[in-house]
Amino acid sequence: MTLQPAAFTDAEIDALVETFYAKVRQHHRLGPIFEDAVGVNGWPEHLRTLKRFWAGVLRGDRSYKGSPMAVHQRVEGIHAGLFTPWLGLFHATCAELFDAPRAALVGAKAERIAHTLKRGLSFPSDAVA
Ligand code: HEM
Repeated sequence: MTLQPAAFTDAEIDALVETFYAKVRQHHRLGPIFEDAVGVNGWPEHLRTLKRFWAGVLRGDRSYKGSPMAVHQRVEGIHAGLFTPWLGLFHATCAELFDAPRAALVGAKAERIAHTLKRGLSFPSDAVA
């Protein structure tokens, strides 16, 4: 028998998204990209979208209706090298909030999605002049 970790609660998903994006906004490379794309007033809506997204990833909720691939393709300044700091902050957040098995589970989901995004996106800097 395998022990399943307890389902993630709304409070845990809220904490994950809020703690992670507070770190992202302070990061010297990621912060400016988000501030440009999300804007000063866009954060409440952006955080709501991300909570719906993570509730889908972690619990199978169906309230998130977006398309991360299409959205990231339009993000000004995004490139493959930014996935490493993004994931670093994400894992640090998980380690802060969750016990080791649950942190590993959420971290692995993020790694898989990041991998898919990175593979699917074409970055202007990929083009060799
Ligand atoms: C290089 C790393 C990344 C950068 C710089 C980045 C940047 C952004 C930005 C700027 C937005 C807002 C776009 C807008 O509203 O116009 C966004 C949206 C989003 N990001 Fe990322 N992202 C990164 C990686 C990831 C990863 C790995 C995930 C998932 C594990 C993710 C999940 C999302 C989701 C769900 C949205 C909302 C999409 C929607 O509006 O439906 N991002 N990202």
